[in-house]
Amino acid sequence: MNREPRAGASGELHAASQAQPNIALIKYWGKRDAALNLPVVGSISITLESLWTRTDVRFVPGQKQDRITLNGRGEEAESRRITACLDLLRQRAGVDYGARVASRNNFPTAAGLASSASGFAALVHAGAQALGLALSLAEQSVLARRCSGSAARSIFGGYVEWAHGQLADGTDSVARPLLGADAWPLRVAVAITSTAAKQVGSTEGMRRTAQTSPYQSAWIDTQEADLSRAREAILARDFEALAQVSEYSCLKMHALALAAQPGLLYWNGATVECMHRVRALRQQGVPVFFTVDAGPQLKAVCLPSAIEQVKAALRDVPGVLDVLDSGLGEGARNIAAGVVEA
Ligand code: ADP
Ligand code: DP6
Ligand code: CO
Repeated sequence: MNREPRAGASGELHAASQAQPNIALIKYWGKRDAALNLPVVGSISITLESLWTRTDVRFVPGQKQDRITLNGRGEEAESRRITACLDLLRQRAGVDYGARVASRNNFPTAAGLASSASGFAALVHAGAQALGLALSLAEQSVLARRCSGSAARSIFGGYVEWAHGQLADGTDSVARPLLGADAWPLRVAVAITSTAAKQVGSTEGMRRTAQTSPYQSAWIDTQEADLSRAREAILARDFEALAQVSEYSCLKMHALALAAQPGLLYWNGATVECMHRVRALRQQGVPVFFTVDAGPQLKAVCLPSAIEQVKAALRDVPGVLDVLDSGLGEGARNIAAGVVEA
């Protein structure tokens, strides 16, 4: 992979990749270095299978500006962030060509379903391939991290840990696989309660939290213990232990963000109702737990035997618009160039 530049007849460098969003079980929230995008805490996630980003990247000799579409539209704010990520790749390759980028998400964008994770993992993967950068997956993870922290984890499939790291240049703040998707094939039901973009994006939410939440230091001090518990639960396939530490990390992250000024309230009524529904199921012995990211969608993680019951229960909650169903998936990979419509 990533050996040769994909030069077309006109000297264009072209590749396309797919990556899937990941759902953090032990959450990332907060940066110790905003420029390098280094986190204040390590995190652990699962990569999904049936939600995806597909991104086509073409570097064009002689083109000055980047031309970018996301879900068929060229919006300035999105384009700036994508150009910043392309700049990191161009710098590595010593290339100054403008790019044409077409990217699509098959799920709501900027709504708490980790579109920045799959989006920037796919962009880095395709961009590196097009430019002929022979980057290891770890090096791709570091680059993806600089574009969006959670994207570091979507380079890999299955169960993934993104390390806090110690080095000042951030090269050891990288994700690595903990366990393959097939080794413990959990299922995820995603209750969609709104498809609107969130009012406060994750980057701004973290900045506000670090500046104003009185719980920031408690969050940092308690993370290492959560990471150990989750790592052990995953390696032992201990569902109940993973359920407990994951719900704890989720609620703790939201408590931290709720205590910012102004408070960050990413939930709506249906989100809360879904949390109660999941807890009621677990009390009845159904192997399921919830997690919620920076947005109003609820992710119910369960053993495969419980998926139909979990989906039916969530569909029943007033305010739930749709319930998506996913297994655990693989990391970023190439797809045929040209399949993504601009
Ligand atoms: P989310 O919960 O979806 O990750 P964020 O606030 O973290 O929300 O990030 C949303 C931002 O991620 C978008 O505004 C856009 O800048 C970027 N993004 C989303 N999808 C893509 C994509 N396919 N390619 C590149 N960037 C993307
Ligand atoms: C709540 O990775 O989207 O989903 O690094 O600023 O792009 P940036 O933030 P992002 O934050 C994700 C936050 C979260 C928890 C998690 O995924 O660990
Ligand atoms: Co995000």
